[in-house]
Amino acid sequence: MITGSFPTTRLRRNRLDPWTRRMVAETTLSVDNLIWPIFVRAGEGEPTPVATMPGVVRVGLDRLARHVEDAARLGIPAIALFPATPADLKTAEGTEALNPENLICQAARLLKAEFPDLGLIGDVALDPYTDHGHDGVLRNGYVANDESVEILERQAVNQAQAGIDIIAPSDMMDGRIGSIRTALDAEGLIHTRIMSYAAKYASAFYGPFREALGSNAALKGDKKTYQMNPANSDEALREVAMDLDEGADMVMVKPGMPYLDIVRRVHETFHVPTFAYQVSGEYAMLASAMNLGLIDRERGILETLMGFRRAGASGVLTYFAVEAARLLRA
Ligand code: PBG
Repeated sequence: MITGSFPTTRLRRNRLDPWTRRMVAETTLSVDNLIWPIFVRAGEGEPTPVATMPGVVRVGLDRLARHVEDAARLGIPAIALFPATPADLKTAEGTEALNPENLICQAARLLKAEFPDLGLIGDVALDPYTDHGHDGVLRNGYVANDESVEILERQAVNQAQAGIDIIAPSDMMDGRIGSIRTALDAEGLIHTRIMSYAAKYASAFYGPFREALGSNAALKGDKKTYQMNPANSDEALREVAMDLDEGADMVMVKPGMPYLDIVRRVHETFHVPTFAYQVSGEYAMLASAMNLGLIDRERGILETLMGFRRAGASGVLTYFAVEAARLLRA
């Protein structure tokens, strides 16, 4: 790298005016980089607030189109749907995941009809549907890999048939990307994309999400036998390599801000579309500090999102997506 020395070189010159700063900016952030996660609930009426995530709500199907309207109008490319399954529909095997009339399938059909140009991402994992809160089925207290994958394949086909465009397996079972790809293809769903939660860590930052879906209270133990150890980085590259080999179209790193080094390594190693999830705990942490006036809201939102882009992310799943899109369009 060639760097002059002071006083011939003054790096502050390029920072003097807004227009110069724009000219030399190395990274861009636009609405195209935003994905908005949404919680769908049963029942009708006003959206209900998620207590642990100030500003985030669970929305019933009757208000869903209205809820999504702004995101579509602002040009957010895709939204990610998560169901708050009623407790009486949760079972040990999570069979509601396979119901063609479950919340996600109904939401997908409704939104496809209303907003044909909006991409729909469906989370594939059993935790919103199991009474024990794990992402797969339990056998002798262990989340059984291969049996869980057999169910996840069918869950993915069920969602894709309802109109989900991108299947996003978040379960961290081994081999699920290949099995899901084969199952989708066997049903002729060759255009359904797969965004793999490839490097997903066993994180404390999912707490508010589990609260939002009601999968927290029930969760027995933790998810450390399938989600990754936060100590590992090389292992993330193996996870990503395997998922790409099995047919993933895009990969994801999750959580986001504490794992930007992983985003960068994945992007630089594979040069494939790499997404990051600024998860519920990151949102809760930022939104709380912003509500207390400790961090400027607008600048804080855009700065964290720019950080993901600088690290190499193609886009970010963020609960701030609509707010960020408004700021970027202003
Ligand atoms: C479930 C899933 C989780 C999130 C997305 N999909 C939680 C978990 O693994 O326990 C977390 C998202 C967030 O915290 O915002 N498979």
